[in-house]
Amino acid sequence: MLGRLNHVAIAVPDIEVASAVYRDTLGAVVSDPLPQPDHGVTTVFIELPNTKIELLEPLGEDSPIAGFLAKNPTGGMHHVCYEVTDIMEARDKLVAAGARVLGTGEPKIGAHGKRVLFLHPKDFCGTLTELEEA
Ligand code: CO
Repeated sequence: MLGRLNHVAIAVPDIEVASAVYRDTLGAVVSDPLPQPDHGVTTVFIELPNTKIELLEPLGEDSPIAGFLAKNPTGGMHHVCYEVTDIMEARDKLVAAGARVLGTGEPKIGAHGKRVLFLHPKDFCGTLTELEEA
C-alpha cells in the first residue's frame, strides 16, 4: 500500500528560527513561509534529495498543532507522510482493518494540493501518519 516517504513534518514554535537552522546550520534549500489558514498552520518546505521536511508553525486560534507544541514547547517530530496511489482504496482497507481515520474520514486537500488523510497515532506505533495520494 505504501509508496514513497513524501515528507516528515516538524512542529516548531518559531518558523523563522527553524528555517534559519535548516538554511544556515544544515545548509538546506528552504522555501519562504506559506500561511495556510485552512489548515491552521504556516508551512516551510525543505527539499532534500530523497524526500521533504515540512516545518509547521501554528496559525490562528485553533491550530491543530497547538496541543502538540504545548506538550513539546521546543518543537518536535509531528507526523510522517507516505504516498499512496489510491487514497480511497487505502482508507477503506485500513478502516476495515480497524484503523481510525481522523476528522470526518474523508480526504482533504493538503498542503501540496493533493488529497490527504490522517491516521490515529495510537493505531500506527505512536506516530501520527498522513497518507497523500501521489
Ligand atoms: Co504533512
